[in-house]
Amino acid sequence: MKLNRSLTLLLAGAAMTLTASAASAQTNLRVFVSSQHRPDVWRKAFDMYEAKNPSVKVTIETGGNTSEAQAQYLNTIMTAKDASLDVMILDVIRPAQYAAAGWTVAFNDVIGKDADTYMKRYLPAYAEANTVDGKIVALPAFADAMFLYYRKDLLEKYGIEAPKTWDELTAAAKKVMEGEKDPNLQGLSFQGKAIEGAVCTFLLPYWSMGKQLVSNGKLNFDREAAVKSLAMWKGFVDQGVAKKNISEVATDDTRKEFQAGNVLFAVNWSYAWGQFQGADSAVKDKVGVVKLPAVKGGEPASCLGGWEWGVSAYSNNKTEAQKFVQFASSPEVSEFMAINAALLPQFGEVYTDADVTKAVPWFASARPVVETAKTRPVTPRYNEVSDIIRTTVNAVLAGTSTPEQGAEQMEGRLRRVLR
Ligand code: GLC
Repeated sequence: MKLNRSLTLLLAGAAMTLTASAASAQTNLRVFVSSQHRPDVWRKAFDMYEAKNPSVKVTIETGGNTSEAQAQYLNTIMTAKDASLDVMILDVIRPAQYAAAGWTVAFNDVIGKDADTYMKRYLPAYAEANTVDGKIVALPAFADAMFLYYRKDLLEKYGIEAPKTWDELTAAAKKVMEGEKDPNLQGLSFQGKAIEGAVCTFLLPYWSMGKQLVSNGKLNFDREAAVKSLAMWKGFVDQGVAKKNISEVATDDTRKEFQAGNVLFAVNWSYAWGQFQGADSAVKDKVGVVKLPAVKGGEPASCLGGWEWGVSAYSNNKTEAQKFVQFASSPEVSEFMAINAALLPQFGEVYTDADVTKAVPWFASARPVVETAKTRPVTPRYNEVSDIIRTTVNAVLAGTSTPEQGAEQMEGRLRRVLR
């Protein structure tokens, strides 16, 4: 009896010690994922990590439907030196800024001596965006670029090929809209709200005319091309090809409206495709995707997007978080996200992987688009540059500025920021 009791006590004590040591060995990582980039699918990828690393538990936090909304949230956390987030997904335009603010930690120690070789595995644009003064400040989560999505069924019905120029797109949209007589059908949806995506809206035709915005860190503004770019987008509204309140449309609005069957052509990023193929999509198997049209006489141009994993400088689990990020940024996870969420791979070879091309056949032709996509200006004052461009695009589309006034104001304001 006595023996039994002491045995029970002993066992209970041992169990307590075990629980206590299990608890102390457990690392909880809190990871911020943008809400439009399929946190449901990332969850499955992170489950794989937990299965391989039983002492690590990964919790996802999501938020913000646009790049700015997310940045605003993260800025608050970082400014408060809040330790609650360990890992955060960052738009490709931000890793350099976060590193400069001291908000993220470099990966060089955990990667070791061969950092160069390690980074060379990624598409060059992403190796570059994440390396600042030899420091690896984040690791790529996925690549991105803008494409033209279209309704295959409707173009076939009217015997129209996917357009190669914006003029061809206008003509095609008018023809289909006239024929369909559907008051809910928009010819073209794009991002006109004053969000980060509207910077790309402005740059697409501007770049297509062969112009650059910044050269060697200095503003290289072409007023005429800027007027033409703004006038082209406003023209879509004036001709009834785009809806009147396009100035209220953000990226995921375009995606939702196209997915509901209300849009013929849509300018959007890669993530949209996976959603269009979902069970609840009205356009499943009716979607074509090609590179964006060019302005007449110009070259097609796309905007380089993408998202990167950064580890918070205020995390209490930096080393574990970095190991986790190495996994989340691996070819294995890239393939998984390509197949299950149509997020573009940050590794060249994943584009032609047999399982990937089976799930997302157009990825094989997406690689050259990503590789030739242009980067938004790289400058420490990018936030101001972005704000100037997107608010101008928005004002022109809302009709509060003409394209000429918009271009003039844009140039003046940009000159003050990018001397
Ligand atoms: C996409 C891109 C990102 C871009 C954003 C703009 O998510 O990947 O780089 O800034 O859209 O809305």
